[in-house]
Amino acid sequence: MRTWGFSCFVITFWIFLFLPQTCISSVRQNGKVSPGFEASQMRYIDNSGLFLVSNSSNFGFGFNPNSDVTSFTLVVIHMTSSTIIWSANRGSPVGISDTFLFDDDGNASLQKNGKVVWSTNTAKNGVSAMELRDSGNLVLVNNDGGVVWQSFSHPTNTLTSNQSFIKGMKLVSNVNNNLSFSLEIENNDLILSAEFKNPQPYWSIGKDKRKIINKNGGDTNSATIEGNSWRMYDENGTFLSQFVFADDSDANDSATWVAVLQDNGFIQFHNLQAQITANLKIPGDSCSRPLACPSYLVCNDGNTCQCPSGLTQVNCKPKIESSCNKSRISSTLVSAGENLSYFALEFVSPDSNTDLDGCKSSCLNNCTCLVMLFDNKNGNCHLFDQIGSFEDAKNGANIEAYVKISGTQSAVSQDQNDSKQSTKMVIIVVVIVTSATFVILGLVIIGIRYHKKQKKRNNPIEDPDEVSEEDTFLENISGMPVRFTYRDLQEATNDFTTKLGQGGFGSVYKGALKDGTSIAVKRLEGLGQGKKEFRAEVSIIGSIHHHHLVKLKGFCAESKHRLLVYEYMANGSLDRWIFGEFFLDFETRYSIAIGTAKGLAYLHEDCDVKIVHCDIKPENVLLDDNFLAKVSDFGLAKLMTREQSYVFTTLRGTRGYLAPEWITNYSISEKSDVYSYGMVLLEIISGRKNYISSETMHFPAYASRMMEEGKVGELLDEKIKVYEKDERVVVAVRVALWCIQDDMNSRPSMTKVVRMLEGLSPVPPPPVIGQTGFFSSLYKPFSEFGTSSRPSDGNSDAYLSDLRVSGPRSHTDTNPTRIRPSTDTNLPKRSTRKPIRFRD
Ligand SMILES: *[C@@H]1O[C@H](CO)[C@@H](O)[C@H](O)[C@H]1NC(C)=O
Ligand SMILES: *[C@@H]1O[C@H](CO)[C@@H](O)[C@H](O)[C@H]1NC(C)=O
Ligand SMILES: *[C@@H]1O[C@H](CO)[C@@H](O)[C@H](O)[C@H]1NC(C)=O
Ligand SMILES: *[C@@H]1O[C@H](CO)[C@@H](O)[C@H](O)[C@H]1NC(C)=O
Ligand SMILES: *[C@@H]1O[C@H](CO)[C@@H](O)[C@H](O)[C@H]1NC(C)=O
Ligand SMILES: *[C@@H]1O[C@H](CO)[C@@H](O)[C@H](O)[C@H]1NC(C)=O
Ligand SMILES: *[C@@H]1O[C@H](CO)[C@@H](O)[C@H](O)[C@H]1NC(C)=O
Ligand SMILES: *[C@@H]1O[C@H](CO)[C@@H](O)[C@H](O)[C@H]1NC(C)=O
Ligand SMILES: *[C@@H]1O[C@H](CO)[C@@H](O)[C@H](O)[C@H]1NC(C)=O
Repeated sequence: MRTWGFSCFVITFWIFLFLPQTCISSVRQNGKVSPGFEASQMRYIDNSGLFLVSNSSNFGFGFNPNSDVTSFTLVVIHMTSSTIIWSANRGSPVGISDTFLFDDDGNASLQKNGKVVWSTNTAKNGVSAMELRDSGNLVLVNNDGGVVWQSFSHPTNTLTSNQSFIKGMKLVSNVNNNLSFSLEIENNDLILSAEFKNPQPYWSIGKDKRKIINKNGGDTNSATIEGNSWRMYDENGTFLSQFVFADDSDANDSATWVAVLQDNGFIQFHNLQAQITANLKIPGDSCSRPLACPSYLVCNDGNTCQCPSGLTQVNCKPKIESSCNKSRISSTLVSAGENLSYFALEFVSPDSNTDLDGCKSSCLNNCTCLVMLFDNKNGNCHLFDQIGSFEDAKNGANIEAYVKISGTQSAVSQDQNDSKQSTKMVIIVVVIVTSATFVILGLVIIGIRYHKKQKKRNNPIEDPDEVSEEDTFLENISGMPVRFTYRDLQEATNDFTTKLGQGGFGSVYKGALKDGTSIAVKRLEGLGQGKKEFRAEVSIIGSIHHHHLVKLKGFCAESKHRLLVYEYMANGSLDRWIFGEFFLDFETRYSIAIGTAKGLAYLHEDCDVKIVHCDIKPENVLLDDNFLAKVSDFGLAKLMTREQSYVFTTLRGTRGYLAPEWITNYSISEKSDVYSYGMVLLEIISGRKNYISSETMHFPAYASRMMEEGKVGELLDEKIKVYEKDERVVVAVRVALWCIQDDMNSRPSMTKVVRMLEGLSPVPPPPVIGQTGFFSSLYKPFSEFGTSSRPSDGNSDAYLSDLRVSGPRSHTDTNPTRIRPSTDTNLPKRSTRKPIRFRD
């Protein structure tokens, strides 16, 4: 959302470069459109894809680019805050020329390659116009002004002021880690649930103690945001209770608030005009959410995650597949630990009421049961087939939590085992003998092949198939990445079902090799490269092994498919941990910072081929089970041409981490990574994004000022509790500020960074960073760029001149002066711009 304006701007720029003839722009409509209207992103590219604006210009309706910037969603968007309040085709994005059609019959629809992805199904209902109202409601009206269809009745993940949420409607969050959340009115209560196979509620207005009751009793039938409160009504419109989410001072009747069901399971309230987020959120206790921590971990005090004591020996990853379809899998229940609780217990009715043993046996005899919770107080026995994170019940909730563990840990009774044991032995012996035979045979064959190949070396005509087979074998032998067939990877990832994330180069999927090793498979997109070059690069990437670099295990290059297979990193990427609701203590953060620096230092200085990463950001720092940091995606920038990678990097919304030289000139070096690293380091410390569009303050500049004023503590993530005197805080901030110097020559090398962080090298006070820093100038509301359609128009000049301003600055120059915009520059020239030289 925030990258929107800039993305549009860049797309516009590229479209103009490459497709000047196809760009037929059309005029944006105000208030309403009539039947017979058609639009596509391409046609409205001059209007950033928006083709209808409300009378007040507060809201717009049109196409909005997704994070990959090549696909689009049809949305109603609040213009000044770029907040999407409704979308038509969430989950089925369309292309740049796919068409929205409001046909003569009054039926509105969106098609992708001739297939309908969304429609209002309102043909022959007398629809005479489509209006975008000042409230943000998209409405189809008939001749009498009656509402035939409205977007307010089909909410996505956002509710806005005065929008009635009525029984029967459902608000659903975007999917996160294969899980989404939903809000519904059920059983006369407003209920928030995790959409597991069997949904598990985790909040309801009825149980929230923060609500204010207006009328006792009464069945909740609808909920509406009015002013600063969320009000519940019964079917006759009687006001029952309200949840006041913001102070009166923050809200008045004309303020537009939205409630967003976020993909982390929280409902948060934002004021669109003032761009404020309310302090109160739902649920109030951040541990009582399924995704507070990864499944099976315990959430403490709302901010730390721990493996419960009973599950440490299985690394908190009990074998979780259900045993229903597998006969004779032995399983046991192990106690997860003391003083645990689970959010859903408050909301779901127990499976039975019994004693602990009865509860255990009902779980053991039920193949779908993977987790069992027994309440000692009242004998309630709960069985679950899937769970999120546990909660720490501080005062001892007196709940027994058991987790089913299948396979070897099982303590199956001895007598059954004896006879099995001997058959097992026989099987094992047979297996060993057979595999040994195969290995020997294999080696012989390999030897013969190798010999042949050596002979063939002199033979100029090579059979391509033979060559690739030999490559495979060579790769296997030397510890080089293994070649997989596309089919292998399709199987390993279950036909690419579990998506872990969307990186700049393509999507990443979770998979498992036949031997059970978890892998992450990256499907590269948009590479225009031959197999040979691809393999050459892969062999370079694959030859790089370092403790702090994600290991490439294999690849696939088959017809148009290009895939990379990496080791799987259990704790995902760093952004989840520093910006999300999870929590990392200072110690861990610091070691992640050092680990990342070491990985980069290795790429820059110790490899045979120096590798500039080009895309350092929290998303590319992955964490393993033990929170060891590993840098991922290195070497991939080389797979693209420079222009491709430039555009991709820029478009991907990585701009907060890009060094100024990316745009001012083209001499990218490892110092550009140092800059990005510095940005990431600041974020690790502060737990917040350096660039937030709603903020006028440029965080690095603020950090610099706080540093100067000796108030480093202000920069720390509030959640971190460190001793005031921990010198490493100052070290980390200083190092970060050195890294993000605009002058690349003043930035330290990564090796130096590691030494400084480890305390082996002193860190002098860094020069002050000004508010006019390079990217602060880039970070403007989209409207300032979004309208720039021609590369040479005035906006782009202003924008470029700002870039230059940040250049010349010396260590003593705390007051950088602005240079007047020059008129001789335009965008296409920026690639040829001369490098800026700095005084040192
Ligand atoms: C509306 O248009 C879509 C797409 O053309 C179509 O699939 C749908 O059947 C139409 N609805 C009605 C009621 O005609
Ligand atoms: C927009 O303004 C015009 C003129 O004031 C008015 O007739 C029309 O109803 C308004 N449209 C909407 C959707 O509010
Ligand atoms: C997660 O994905 C798997 C298959 O990829 C699916 O079987 C399962 O139901 C999904 N879980 C949820 C909670 O959606
Ligand atoms: C709503 O009003 C109708 C008619 O006045 C009444 O019969 C019904 O009980 C009311 N419902 C509630 C929930 O108060
Ligand atoms: C009410 O809020 C809106 C938007 O936040 C603001 O523009 C307006 O000035 C406020 N009015 C009063 C009376 O505070
Ligand atoms: C909500 O409705 C009330 C009453 O009709 C109106 O005064 C207020 O301006 C509306 N708020 C918004 C944000 O549309
Ligand atoms: C078990 O078998 C049933 C029916 O044969 C099938 O629908 C289900 O997906 C299978 N479950 C697993 C975990 O394999
Ligand atoms: C088996 O366990 C599941 C939860 O995993 C539960 O929903 C179901 O009711 C149980 N079946 C029986 C027969 O107890
Ligand atoms: C569980 O809670 C009880 C009561 O507060 C406490 O005495 C005990 O030490 C706790 N156990 C653990 C493992 O924290």
